[in-house]
Amino acid sequence: MKFTTCLVTLATAWGTAAHPYLGEGEWKAPGANDCRPCPMMNTLANHGHIPRDGRNITRPNIVAGLAAGLNFNEALASLMFDMAIIANPEPNATYFTLDHLNQHNVLEHDASLSRTDYYFGSNHIFNRTIYEKSKAYWTEDMITAKMLANSKLARQIESRAFNPTYRFTADTENFSLGEIAAPIIAFGDMSLGEVNRTLVDYFFVNERLPAELGWHKKEAAIGIEDILKVSDIIKAATSLITGSEQSNSAKIRDLHAGMSV
Ligand code: HEM
Ligand SMILES: *[C@@H]1O[C@H](CO)[C@@H](O)[C@H](O)[C@H]1NC(C)=O
Ligand SMILES: *[C@@H]1O[C@H](CO)[C@@H](O)[C@H](O)[C@H]1NC(C)=O
Ligand SMILES: *[C@@H]1O[C@H](CO)[C@@H](O)[C@H](O)[C@H]1NC(C)=O
Ligand SMILES: *[C@@H]1O[C@H](CO)[C@@H](O)[C@H](O)[C@H]1NC(C)=O
Ligand SMILES: *[C@@H]1O[C@H](CO)[C@@H](O)[C@H](O)[C@H]1NC(C)=O
Repeated sequence: MKFTTCLVTLATAWGTAAHPYLGEGEWKAPGANDCRPCPMMNTLANHGHIPRDGRNITRPNIVAGLAAGLNFNEALASLMFDMAIIANPEPNATYFTLDHLNQHNVLEHDASLSRTDYYFGSNHIFNRTIYEKSKAYWTEDMITAKMLANSKLARQIESRAFNPTYRFTADTENFSLGEIAAPIIAFGDMSLGEVNRTLVDYFFVNERLPAELGWHKKEAAIGIEDILKVSDIIKAATSLITGSEQSNSAKIRDLHAGMSV
């Protein structure tokens, strides 16, 4: 039954096999057991930027892989390694594996955009039903920080309402803001805080860098300050409070209803 769990990814891989990506890291479809919770770690493994088998993810391998795939600088990649190494339960570990990431409530958490909660099923396999719910909030061709924030909030409300084991600590929030910012960081405009929905969708569904759609990794190396900036944009966008002025769409609605003066 493991085979069917990655079927979405495999089927898409077969569908695009006529146009193999032969760029900086040749993409190969994941194996039947290669379903893990981070779409980007899976992607980098599929391209061979980090070990394809998902094992031996050391600091040098993360630094090289995040540079090759996304042009992250060394300080940022090294910080991410430091935050991730707790996934390996061995004391003083010098590596982790992508399977380590599946452990619930270590790094993996509830209310993900594309995976269901541990309470409901697999917390690490791409889940089409959950993903479509998140995607429904990406309402324009360009996904804004607000739309990403809306999908994050919606997943949290759904989990809090229906998952009696829902857990989302201040640390989870910190990680979560980085994850929600990630599509903008990898594929979008970090100043405007927006990203092309076609690229993001291709990435989530195929676990592949969207090079065949014309995407290139950023020219300027991405650093810690970039991540913090975009995470802050997302954080601000999660506020449900507005100003007191009437919105344009409300004015238009009133006009249509003949209520306006
Ligand atoms: C050391 C490097 C990294 C590690 C160990 C890691 C680990 C994880 C883990 C454990 C999750 C699951 C959290 C959850 O339960 O939703 C996750 C989610 C995610 N990661 Fe990573 N990650 C890394 C780097 C990156 C990078 C560089 C990006 C993209 C720029 C990225 C993008 C994402 C996204 C978008 C999600 C959310 C998936 C969802 O909500 O369904 N990650 N990551
Ligand atoms: C693990 O990765 C390191 C690089 O960080 C490399 O030197 C070592 O040979 C690798 N070990 C295995 C077992 O692949
Ligand atoms: C881990 O590192 C600490 C600090 O260097 C050391 O005291 C401890 O003995 C190490 N543990 C193992 C199992 O190697
Ligand atoms: C996908 O998510 C739905 C909703 O939580 C759940 O019922 C289903 O079992 C999940 N699928 C897998 C493979 O976990
Ligand atoms: C979030 O994580 C970053 C990086 O580790 C850290 O600098 C910051 O203090 C954390 N923020 C909170 C609110 O925990
Ligand atoms: C998004 O990217 C796709 C694929 O490269 C492109 O066809 C489309 O025009 C882009 N959309 C916007 C709004 O830029």
